[in-house]
Amino acid sequence: MTVRIIGTGSCLPAQVVTNDDLAQFVDTSDEWIKSRTGIRERRVAKEETTAGMCIEAAKKAMEEAGVSAEEIDLIIVGTITGDYVTPSTACQIQAGIHAVNATAFDISAACSGFLFALNTAHAFIQTGKYRTALILGAETLSRIVDWKDRSTCVLFGDGAGAAVVRAEETGLIAYDQGSDGARGMCLACPGRENNNILVEGKKELGYVSMDGQEVYKFAVSTVPASIQKVLDEAGCSADDIKYFVLHQANLRILQSVSKRLHVPMERFPVAIDHYANISAGTVPILLDEMNRKGMLERGDKIILSGFGAGLTWGTALLEW
Ligand code: ACO
Repeated sequence: MTVRIIGTGSCLPAQVVTNDDLAQFVDTSDEWIKSRTGIRERRVAKEETTAGMCIEAAKKAMEEAGVSAEEIDLIIVGTITGDYVTPSTACQIQAGIHAVNATAFDISAACSGFLFALNTAHAFIQTGKYRTALILGAETLSRIVDWKDRSTCVLFGDGAGAAVVRAEETGLIAYDQGSDGARGMCLACPGRENNNILVEGKKELGYVSMDGQEVYKFAVSTVPASIQKVLDEAGCSADDIKYFVLHQANLRILQSVSKRLHVPMERFPVAIDHYANISAGTVPILLDEMNRKGMLERGDKIILSGFGAGLTWGTALLEW
């Protein structure tokens, strides 16, 4: 028994912000951003919230899956930008879609969040206690980036992606995931600091900081190794895989992974150009885009891989 994805959905903020738009606020240019990252534009939330986008994405995924809210046993959301510290985004979604029978919780694994959610749902469903799960990756990263810092604010966007997974004989075939907390501070965002009656002075909330070159080195070594691990575990070669659906951090990371695996770029779908990096949201949003374009057929083997802050990584080989 494993889990199979039976429906996908996504929701993006309405507002498009191009590189030229950004260049009016920080000292940057379309040429610099495009050549270093592949990003042309991103979506930025104005009225939209993390939970609100998740609810829309979830409804679309459930509609495609033909699954009612009462059938959902589990809701797991990968996010680092929930609207509240508590309740969790997953609990907000539960209330929003009336999934009264579900257990709901969030996972904090940044850009690996959707893969961690998928692998966690798989582990729960394998116990036999649960049958159907709603898994999501969603962020409103525009809240935690410093809009005066050109080295980070140009990289990120907002959005939500969802999938319904159900216990089936075929689907998730192999997975690998891991963490390296010792290198965590190369991509960080502080939470609230101690600000109680014992502490003097008002503290400002911090923003995302990143050692881009360290993150690049981590990604281009860890991701191909993790992909090779799941290929070996499944007894497959890269030639058996139709698409490699990777976290969209940077076009150059995708190109480097494609080169290291000797797989042409045509099999690495790209969304970084129009959505930028939505952390946990990138993999499910891209998967939904591919699904709705009819790029996936039953029986296709695909690889999903997320990697990022923590540091964390998660890879899954699945049959569609
Ligand atoms: N516009 C114009 N100039 C800029 C900008 C900008 N937006 N940002 C930085 N610069 C300047 C810097 O100030 C620096 O100028 P200097 O040489 O005069 O000091 C110069 O460009 C080079 O800066 P670097 O930070 O060294 O740029 P680098 O070539 O490393 O590119 C990048 C930065 C694209 C982030 C790169 O490190 C990278 O690809 N990192 C991979 C990690 C990544 O993509 N992270 C995204 C999120 S993490 C994740 O999701 C896993």
